[in-house]
Amino acid sequence: MDLTHRPRRLRKDRIRGLVSETSLEPSDFIAPVFVDATTDERVPIESMPGHERVPLAEAVPRVEEVLETGVQAVMLFGIPRSKDAEGTRAWVDDGVVQEATRRITDETDAYVITDVCLCEYTEHGHCGPLEAGARDYEGEQHSSGASGGLTVDNDATLESLERIAVSHADAGAEMVAPSGMMDGMVGFIRTALDREGHADVAVMSYAAKYESAFYGPFRDAADGAPSFGDRRHYQMDPANRREATREVRLDVEQGADVLMVKPALPYLDVVSDLRREFEHPVAAYNVSGEYAMLQAAGEKGWLDLEAAALESLLSIKRAGADLILTYFAEDVAPRL
Ligand code: PBG
Repeated sequence: MDLTHRPRRLRKDRIRGLVSETSLEPSDFIAPVFVDATTDERVPIESMPGHERVPLAEAVPRVEEVLETGVQAVMLFGIPRSKDAEGTRAWVDDGVVQEATRRITDETDAYVITDVCLCEYTEHGHCGPLEAGARDYEGEQHSSGASGGLTVDNDATLESLERIAVSHADAGAEMVAPSGMMDGMVGFIRTALDREGHADVAVMSYAAKYESAFYGPFRDAADGAPSFGDRRHYQMDPANRREATREVRLDVEQGADVLMVKPALPYLDVVSDLRREFEHPVAAYNVSGEYAMLQAAGEKGWLDLEAAALESLLSIKRAGADLILTYFAEDVAPRL
């Protein structure tokens, strides 16, 4: 055959690497770590095989395990010893994340990022205090499963987020990651950090966070499932792509340093849009459901887990992500 173009020429073993467009490095990853103030022992997370909630005493050893794999950054989530309507345990000086952050930054070289949100700290499991009167509708909300007129009080939440971010920075966090999808959250946090002497603490905004079914296992892990209703009135509609650019632009205007898309695999179009539209680093959160899905299929022998994990992470990078938050970090990093 007289074929001028034969792309297969470049797919042979020793040339593949030279022409590969994308590669993963351990330094691309952020490993999520769950610290639990209600337990003295490590508790395996059933829906996320290989992951556990660790007590405060194990926070440093847990992070050392991460560092040994070559991953240098962790994202801390806390399970507080008690919850209330306002989520006050989220910003106290002796809170679980504050204490863990102090220990980890004192004793290790890990780069510590903290999740700034209220859903693990409020007894109703929403990402902020509810608007007055909202709780009266609890029964009705529960049965309908919709959020209806019931809303998280955006502006009251901003004041709590400010306190949380400052308390994390006081404890030594180098980056804070607000995940609650409240309007104005990045600007509020940036201003508060600057005012309190934390101008060097960065903000990674969960800028385009969708109302997703893929958070299921995380909500078990962090005990942050809403006790009624859902998060549709603050997290984004999975149907919307242009809205993500708008959300992100607002966060950029408010001073976000890193822009995150969450979940990752079902939203690679959004990752790609942000890569093209903005100069900032783009992060993608390969969430709990994406992890659990592959683990479950791997367990059944329906796919090769290691290969599928690597391919997933590579696609996230190829779509345009610079940083990837993933529960696979520790498994994949040593194999790169
Ligand atoms: C909220 C938060 C969630 C996740 C990270 N931060 C859950 C939610 O919005 O319900 C999910 C992460 C995952 O699924 O891995 N603080």
